[in-house]
Amino acid sequence: MYTTAQEKPEDWWEVEALYDLCFAPGRTLLSSYRLREDVPPVAPLCRVARDSTNTLVAAIRYWPVRVGGSRVLLLGPVAVHPVTQGAGLGGLLIRETLHAAGELGYERVLLVGDPPYYNRFGFFHLAGVEMPPPTNPDRVQGLELIPGAWDGVHGEVEKVTMTEEAVDTFVEERNESWEDGATEA
Ligand SMILES: CC(C)(COP(=O)(O)OP(=O)(O)OC[C@H]1O[C@@H](n2cnc3c(N)ncnc32)[C@H](O)[C@@H]1OP(=O)(O)O)[C@@H](O)C(=O)NCCC(=O)NCCS
Repeated sequence: MYTTAQEKPEDWWEVEALYDLCFAPGRTLLSSYRLREDVPPVAPLCRVARDSTNTLVAAIRYWPVRVGGSRVLLLGPVAVHPVTQGAGLGGLLIRETLHAAGELGYERVLLVGDPPYYNRFGFFHLAGVEMPPPTNPDRVQGLELIPGAWDGVHGEVEKVTMTEEAVDTFVEERNESWEDGATEA
């Protein structure tokens, strides 16, 4: 029996410990971490899963980035404790948060990962999107939360420098504009 919830500030170090366990040593040297430094994660999309003993067994985080001036969500890290891998928790957290991202008005998602795993969620190879080196370009993948969202979006992945408050403001503004659009339609 597992329960999922939005990550709370007090979960932070428990999540870091899980990532240390699940990824190779030196994970923070990966180029994707340069895009996360000093940037707050997208809090509503950071979720954890706990088992019946309240032990944290899975976690997912997202960060905002830009590609060619367009707003993009960077998925990851996502990790599941080795003891509970293969039970569907990774898929559950990914599907839950992608759905929530769409509800929040985000249009496109980016990640660096194993294509055979992420293809099942609808991710596809992004040929024209360049992560900071060193990154294997074959592992750069995107997902469209609205059809065509990656069309014409290419270039280097750039770090976003905005405060959490500004991220929230963006989300609110985006929600309002979507609501306006729905009313007009
Ligand atoms: C990758 C990870 C998040 C998947 O979570 P999970 O809960 O174990 O996976 P799920 O139960 O949702 O899915 C299991 C399926 O995914 C497949 N799968 C898992 N990891 C895979 C990988 N790296 N490549 C290809 N397929 C993979 C399994 O073989 C299984 O396939 P099946 O459904 O055909 O039997 C988890 O295994 C993990 O934490 N791994 C270590 C950290 C990591 O690599 N994170 C991802 C990079 S950001």
